[in-house]
Amino acid sequence: MNVTDAIIVITGASSGIGRATALACAERGGTVVVSARRSHALEQLAQECSNLGGNAVAIPADVTDPDAMDALASGTIEKFGRIDVWFNNAGVTVAGNFDEVPPDVYRQVIETNLFGVINGTRSVLPYMREQGSGIIINHSSVLGKFGASQFSAYSTSKAAIIGFSESLRQELRGSGINVCLLLPAAIDTPIYNQAANFSGLGVKPVEPIYPAELAAQEVIGLIERPRAEVYVGNSGRAGSFARKVTPFAASDRAIGTTWEQDHFTPNPADPSRGNVFEPDSNPDHAKTSGGWPVSEGSSTPYVAAGIAAAAIPAAYLLRSRSKK
Ligand SMILES: NC(=O)c1ccc[n+]([C@@H]2O[C@H](COP(=O)([O-])OP(=O)(O)OC[C@H]3O[C@@H](n4cnc5c(N)ncnc54)[C@H](OP(=O)(O)O)[C@@H]3O)[C@@H](O)[C@H]2O)c1
Repeated sequence: MNVTDAIIVITGASSGIGRATALACAERGGTVVVSARRSHALEQLAQECSNLGGNAVAIPADVTDPDAMDALASGTIEKFGRIDVWFNNAGVTVAGNFDEVPPDVYRQVIETNLFGVINGTRSVLPYMREQGSGIIINHSSVLGKFGASQFSAYSTSKAAIIGFSESLRQELRGSGINVCLLLPAAIDTPIYNQAANFSGLGVKPVEPIYPAELAAQEVIGLIERPRAEVYVGNSGRAGSFARKVTPFAASDRAIGTTWEQDHFTPNPADPSRGNVFEPDSNPDHAKTSGGWPVSEGSSTPYVAAGIAAAAIPAAYLLRSRSKK
């Protein structure tokens, strides 16, 4: 599909990857319907998209509210007559050990990330079925491919999105509707600045950190050529590969240690419910970037680590076979 001709709905567009994607689509002359809870940020974004030559409308909606998702889909149809792409992107996160995170926060992370995707899909599917075409892009994460210490609610939600999307893709074979998964590694967005946090320490992304524009490019790529799943950032691809081919004890130790050490700053942080229930009011957190140092091109060591991790069990297998 050509982005220029597409009607594209984006949830969670008021900051980060959703915002970057709206701008990238607008640059190509596409039509975007931008949604999230922060209506002021959406209005500003719609204006920026128009300035870039795109066609943009803001429809505020909370993804945990099925009626609001229905209104987002029907509002888009009323305005533009069809929906070509629906990017289920909205998400929140919480840091802290499983038994330190309050149960209501834990549940709301899953409600937003997983049921947000399910609600959005339920709302758009009847229109896409009627059209006989469409692309649904569900935003998972490399943390959907493997769990990570102190982020169990987030990992749970992202793994479930993979299961949901794979089932849906099988059901929709031959319907003309594509279901795609986006699997980013760490991206420089405000998600870390507005995260709920019960860990006692400040939260930061695990390096290497990729720019939100890279994720937006991958979304454009999925619109032009839908695929089952795409990674954003080589470190995530290498990490997932290593996870598959390395014994659990070794990869649990590697991932657990990395996340416990590299996902936190040394600065103490008070418990916070972040933007899980209410949107963040800090205007700096309604930007594309979270102000984290982007380390493009530095993922080579991670790729090498992935290959090395694959080589260990492969060598072990070869050795045990040659002994037989
Ligand atoms: N940044 C990363 O490292 C990374 C890595 C892998 C995957 N992801 C995924 O990328 C997606 C976008 O996150 P981001 O990194 O761009 O972070 P972000 O800047 O915090 O964006 C999250 C977006 O979701 C919206 N949102 C949150 N709760 C919502 C709700 N209940 N209803 C509607 N919208 C809601 C937020 O806007 P409002 O507060 O205005 O509603 C915001 O627009 C998420 O699904 C995230 O899990 C991010």
